[in-house]
Amino acid sequence: MKITYLGHASLSIEVAGKNIIVDPFISGNELAKNIDITSLKADYILITHAHEDHILDVEAIAKRTGAKVVSNFEIVNHFGNLGIEGHPMNHGGTWQFDFGKVTYTNAIHSSSFPDGSYGGQPGGFILETSEGNIYIAGDTSLTMDMKLIPMQTKLNLAILPIGDNFTMGIESATLAADFVECDKILGYHYDTFGYIEIDHNKAKEVFKNKDKELIMLDINDFMVL
Ligand code: NI
Ligand code: MN
Repeated sequence: MKITYLGHASLSIEVAGKNIIVDPFISGNELAKNIDITSLKADYILITHAHEDHILDVEAIAKRTGAKVVSNFEIVNHFGNLGIEGHPMNHGGTWQFDFGKVTYTNAIHSSSFPDGSYGGQPGGFILETSEGNIYIAGDTSLTMDMKLIPMQTKLNLAILPIGDNFTMGIESATLAADFVECDKILGYHYDTFGYIEIDHNKAKEVFKNKDKELIMLDINDFMVL
């Protein structure tokens, strides 16, 4: 599994010969200005919630690539009305896709569309594939529900928001790592706006002091699981 960081909470994941984009917010992110969204490959677009910093480039990418949107019922409906194909899910549900199994998990956050309309309840995703199991938390607080994840899935990587203010911050993320029983963390949702700028060295130190690894990729850099 190859995971490329596209800035903010945007990821590109290559697994089992398929390309998955997560929460594309690229054209509106000054830090990601070197990424051309017309160059991104996508068979699926996973969307955690309806906030603009997670859906901005969905329509452009989906219409160009024909990618299928996977998200909660309300978000899939919204993009369905724009002529984009989708697969609706809701919390706790799992579906077998051709690249692996996807579960839509709880997140504590909000989920309105940019115009204020209802975007369903926010979530995250667990991907179980032949190339490893990952948890993409989405925008969320630390939540006890995270403890349910390792009861069903042995994770190889947890992707957690670490920017604080709108989501959990570093200290909470180390607890989240304990809750999901995974010591390898890819941080996301930091630095994009003033509210979520963080000290990278300090963040890594906090994780290291708890015998955990915090990976912070440069934008457009990747890791292989
Ligand atoms: Ni959000
Ligand atoms: Mn966000």
